[in-house]
Amino acid sequence: MPSTPCNVVVLLSGSGSNLQALIDSSSAENSPIRIRAVVSNRADAYGLQRAAAAGIDTVVLEHAGFDDREAFDAALMAHIDGFAPDLVVLAGFMRILSGGFVRHYQGRLLNIHPSLLPKYKGLHTHRRALEAGDVEHGCSVHFVTEELDGGPLVVQAVVPVAPGDTADSLAQRVHHQEHQIYPLAVHWFAQGRLRLGEQGALLDDQPLPASGHLIRP
Ligand code: GAR
Repeated sequence: MPSTPCNVVVLLSGSGSNLQALIDSSSAENSPIRIRAVVSNRADAYGLQRAAAAGIDTVVLEHAGFDDREAFDAALMAHIDGFAPDLVVLAGFMRILSGGFVRHYQGRLLNIHPSLLPKYKGLHTHRRALEAGDVEHGCSVHFVTEELDGGPLVVQAVVPVAPGDTADSLAQRVHHQEHQIYPLAVHWFAQGRLRLGEQGALLDDQPLPASGHLIRP
């Protein structure tokens, strides 16, 4: 395991419950993770308060005032790189990132998505799973590539759909699983066990299956 902690910068736009799960899991004295900063594109994101309460530096960078996506992303990169991250974690960061941004952090950029990818890329994943009559739903952690919600999968958790589920009740159970699998993936990365190879994600130098490490209830 690397002797210095893995410097992590978290990007978010909202509530930050995944950030909280990462904070909680990294608070042990010998944790391999150091959450160095939280960056938000929204000043009202509750995740900023969670970060401040944990003594983590925060940055707000709103897109108003920037000419285009590239200009905003360049400013975002400058802020992030000021914290010298080993890993950048997207935790409900609701912006599409430019190719330049994604390439800059290739192999050190993770995202969490509330579906069993490759199903239901984009928004409204819970409603779409219910409308399709799926019996299983879930969440995924993946390395970010230029294909939206399409990078190599690291870990997925399956959540059975219950009779009478609504998008909200399903979202709640998926969220609970997100809080288990994101800290797991970030710890693997911080321990030097997880990396992005030429063909996909590797755990302990072994290729992960296409679904990533699959967790079933
Ligand atoms: C999570 O459900 C995450 O999977 C989703 O945003 C939520 C953030 O919740 N991300 C995406 O949809 C990205 N495509 P949180 O702010 O409570 O962590």
